[in-house]
Amino acid sequence: MDGGSGLRFGRAPGGWPVLGHFVALRQRPLEFLDSLPERGDLVEIRLGPRPAFVLCHPDLAHRVLTDFRGFDRTGPVYEKVRAAMGSGVATVPYQDHRRQRLVMQPAFRHEHLRGYVGVMRDEIAAAMDGWSEGQVVDMVEAMFRLTTTVALKSLFSARIGAREAEELRAAFDVFLRGIYTRAALPVAGRLPTPGNRRYARALIRWRGEVERLIEDYRQAGGDRGDLMSRLLAARDDEGRALTAEELSDQVAVLLLAGGETTSAAVVWALHLLQEHPEILARVHAEADTVLAGETAGWEHLGRLDLTARVVREALRLYPPAWVVVRTAVRQTRLAGHTLAPGSMVLFSPYILHRRADFHPEPHRFDPDRSLSGAGGAGHRGSYLPFGGGATKCLGEEFGVAEATLVVASIAARWRLSALSGGGVSASARVVLTPKAFPVRLSDRSARPRATAAV
Ligand code: HEM
Repeated sequence: MDGGSGLRFGRAPGGWPVLGHFVALRQRPLEFLDSLPERGDLVEIRLGPRPAFVLCHPDLAHRVLTDFRGFDRTGPVYEKVRAAMGSGVATVPYQDHRRQRLVMQPAFRHEHLRGYVGVMRDEIAAAMDGWSEGQVVDMVEAMFRLTTTVALKSLFSARIGAREAEELRAAFDVFLRGIYTRAALPVAGRLPTPGNRRYARALIRWRGEVERLIEDYRQAGGDRGDLMSRLLAARDDEGRALTAEELSDQVAVLLLAGGETTSAAVVWALHLLQEHPEILARVHAEADTVLAGETAGWEHLGRLDLTARVVREALRLYPPAWVVVRTAVRQTRLAGHTLAPGSMVLFSPYILHRRADFHPEPHRFDPDRSLSGAGGAGHRGSYLPFGGGATKCLGEEFGVAEATLVVASIAARWRLSALSGGGVSASARVVLTPKAFPVRLSDRSARPRATAAV
């Protein structure tokens, strides 16, 4: 027990001889995380030979997230992530972060959201135009394609064509899939396997393309009202611009931070709606009233209240950024336990969001829970899908707007029938996402067959 705070320290039982709890975390991540809070508020696990400390209490999460200098983005995981993704604002350590954050922040001001929402609307409409009655679509695949295209086009607007966007997206996909394994088990990345060769090729293609696009922008000059124009124009407090390499790293980071997280949020929301027909009916009704047959856009955003609450509740139950890693820079005491410098600390919103003392009936999908104000959801640190402190998500408004518009637009037009026969299984890579969510589409506006045949 922690003298002052009453927080408990514990250890997770079991674990494999060499890999520790890595196997459990990989094979049944959610059950494993669910099992931790009963062990304590700070729980020691082993990842390979290293101990890691999981924050299972909101107060500890708050403490760690608001002390970036003391719990930094250093250590082997971030070294690997930076080797793959570069040093963008979401991956750099404390000492480089402030400058990058200052430069990036203006591009995410509320006044720019309207322009990004325009991109979202066009891409949602284009994606749904490709769908037809009776078609089977894997929503994981389709939504990832949609959100990474939105991120790319918000960045590069006019200068990126459909084919280029698709090529870039595909290369990004390959290296995104490789990063998690490389970060967790570095040795796996060094073997000369076909997968590793594919990864290396995708990385080269990706970097080359992004650098070419940025150079194009520099040469063309001017403000296109997109993210890249804003990043090129931005200066830090000493008047310095981002270098070409820093810009390229921001692109990778923005796609990583913004693409798969948002698509995961959409897919979990759709999946939860499938499992709760009474809430789905209300979402259909809201979409019918607010959108009146249109694809959702800026003028609808403020009126899609229920859909936005569905998205926020899906983010509670299945936070895409399910584990965020930090390293203790100096010797620290947490929950009465002393952590040595260099200890890995894991912040998991998934765990915090399912604590019954802060979220009554935590496993129940209830988009209206925020209306009643019941429970301790207002407790600092108990609802953190976007993290907190100095590194809090820059794209929260962007991501929630996009997920809301996508869910509403789909609901307005399509009824989805899940083919997986019930549950979906979670894949916990960098992002927590369903492995697959194949659905059959039926057009809600189509007349019933019997009537149509008359
Ligand atoms: C539902 C969707 C999203 C979720 C759940 C999410 C979650 C998060 C979380 C938890 C962090 C904190 C990571 C840390 O502390 O190390 C973060 C950081 C970040 N996110 Fe998001 N994010 C989402 C969407 C987006 C979008 C759409 C963008 C951009 C278009 C974006 C850009 C960023 C950036 C740049 C950072 C780094 C901030 C910093 O370190 O200063 N995110 N996000």
